[in-house]
Amino acid sequence: MGPSKSTRFPVGHEVTLAELESDPYPVYARLRAREPVSWLPALNMWYVTGYEDVRTALLDTAHLTTVSDHSTIFDTFGAHMLTTENPIHDRYRRAAQYAFTPAFIRENLDEAISNLTAGLVRQFRNRGCAELRSAFASRLPIQVILFVCGLPMDAEPGMRRWYDSFEAALANFAGDSAIRAAAKLSVGEFHALLEEAIRTCAAEAGEDTGLRSLISRMVNAPPAERLSDDEIKRNLSIIFFGGISTVEALLLNCLWALFEHPGVFARVTADRSLLPQVIDETMRWLSPVQSATRHVLEPFEWRGLRFEKDEIVNCMLGAANRDPSVFSDPDRFDVDRANVRRHLGFATGLHSCLGSQLARTEARIALEALLQLPELQLDRAASEPPTGYEFRQSRRLVVQWREGETKD
Ligand code: HEM
Repeated sequence: MGPSKSTRFPVGHEVTLAELESDPYPVYARLRAREPVSWLPALNMWYVTGYEDVRTALLDTAHLTTVSDHSTIFDTFGAHMLTTENPIHDRYRRAAQYAFTPAFIRENLDEAISNLTAGLVRQFRNRGCAELRSAFASRLPIQVILFVCGLPMDAEPGMRRWYDSFEAALANFAGDSAIRAAAKLSVGEFHALLEEAIRTCAAEAGEDTGLRSLISRMVNAPPAERLSDDEIKRNLSIIFFGGISTVEALLLNCLWALFEHPGVFARVTADRSLLPQVIDETMRWLSPVQSATRHVLEPFEWRGLRFEKDEIVNCMLGAANRDPSVFSDPDRFDVDRANVRRHLGFATGLHSCLGSQLARTEARIALEALLQLPELQLDRAASEPPTGYEFRQSRRLVVQWREGETKD
């Protein structure tokens, strides 16, 4: 980064990590108004904050790519759908996408998700209070992915441990070798579990097993579409990684938004059909994933600015989702917005979230169950407000309810 960028982007120059971490929204508003495409020395990257600019950047595969040898996600998991572009990306994505379509979810996963949800709620229902992140939100998404993949439920504690070490590695921008080594070990252990499942599924080849798990479907795909075992493992790694703390954050953020807006809370308690709007408005207002990262392929110019090869362009989904030119009164949580689904919380373009419908379904079923806890309320003093500018969520959400009258 040359000093010219600092003089050219005075607003970006002043941004600190601390203010992004605690509340990025005023920063986004300043940048969007004065430097919609800006350079942030604090992060050593470009920041794009306007809705149309974020869309343009995500769709501009001629200049911007997810492929980078330097990215922590590539270093941890290797080549998979989020670190490749077409034609490889297309091949990878097609191998897995059948399990994430609305019809498949409705027919094959809804009931299982309801059962898993009920099982978790049963564990704390009689206590009258719970820290929902550890007791529920961090657990349900792991159990759901185990079910989707056809892996045993007793793998949950291992998955948690592996996930935490993957997460540390993906945030390991300083290249700490101990963190990297721990993640490599976890990837190895996770892949060993997958190898066993792949072997079992290969033995079922030709049998009509009805609903096939994602792994079985991938392993027994027609030869022209069949990924190698290694490719299956790498893509399952990103599916697993992509679907855990994101869903955790969505669940916690929906609850946070509802507690902050008692009027909406009362409406949705009386009328559960509002839940899809609550979920999408939360995706907009308190986006769990705030950014989508791209790398500059070759030097190019855009909006009168020059982008150099390998520079990072961070497309700020959380900022786009508060752009007043698209969402009127954007800081207001408004479940009645006509364009509630126009948010970019799942990004857009070829890499847009594979699991968006699964995430929405998990959130709907989970909230339906939690809202049955009578007189549910937030213990504000014991909880933490959402923080973070990559992933944004509460790290601790304690709730209370009246004991003894909940239905199954
Ligand atoms: C609320 C929950 C979720 C949020 C906010 C979210 C967000 C995102 C975003 C923003 C992207 C685009 C990344 C980019 O373009 O750089 C993405 C991609 C992806 N997500 Fe999600 N996600 C969620 C849930 C899930 C679930 C449940 C799964 C799977 C079980 C999943 C799997 C993936 C995969 C595999 C990709 C890469 C797709 C590709 O490159 O073609 N996500 N997600």
